[in-house]
Amino acid sequence: MHILNVHIFWKFFRYLLEKFLKIYTRRWTLLNDNGISATSNVLDLGCGDARFSEYFNGVYVGIDNHKPYIDKASRKYLSKIFGTTIDSIDLKKYSFDCLLLLDVVHHLTDAEFSDIILKIKHLNIKKIFIFDPIKEQRGVIGRLLCFLDRGKFIRSLTELKQLIKNNDLLITKIENLKFGPTDCVMIVVKK
Ligand SMILES: C[S@@+](CC[C@H](N)C(=O)[O-])C[C@H]1O[C@@H](n2cnc3c(N)ncnc32)[C@H](O)[C@@H]1O
Repeated sequence: MHILNVHIFWKFFRYLLEKFLKIYTRRWTLLNDNGISATSNVLDLGCGDARFSEYFNGVYVGIDNHKPYIDKASRKYLSKIFGTTIDSIDLKKYSFDCLLLLDVVHHLTDAEFSDIILKIKHLNIKKIFIFDPIKEQRGVIGRLLCFLDRGKFIRSLTELKQLIKNNDLLITKIENLKFGPTDCVMIVVKK
């Protein structure tokens, strides 16, 4: 088992990423710049332990297939809704301002990504935000971090764009980001 699947190590790792690279704060600002606020209704797929849910006080549904993270999140964030699969929650009854895929797409094969898109296509979701590292890393440390990442499907920007296009989604914005030594992108998508 990967060390980051143990919640305490995961939590410490994310604490360091926030402290030194401001990963959550910067994403929050970027979401704000793109029309998302604390009162927005959010579907957070691959939410981990739902640390990011702390920014929201509207409807927040977090899904992650690693049950120990979801168990922790359910105990900590009592007003939020959690599940380990998309099918485990009746999502049709909500209207979401956005679907968040924060550092998740590189954990998914093309087929898994398509399966998720198929399942959310009929839902009421205004925008999709993808934040992901990309293959084009400018430095050795960035390349090393990508190599060590648990997600084994880090794509080039061209591959990410193609994946999105193949699933009949429309890209409305792409922003290149640097989180310390790691080159990433934010892609805003519409169904
Ligand atoms: C790098 S973590 C990001 C967690 C969170 N979004 C954050 O930024 O703190 C990626 C997460 O995606 C989850 N994940 C991977 N494949 C998934 C799938 N098919 N369905 C749901 N969650 C998945 C993993 O369990 C992990 O918690």
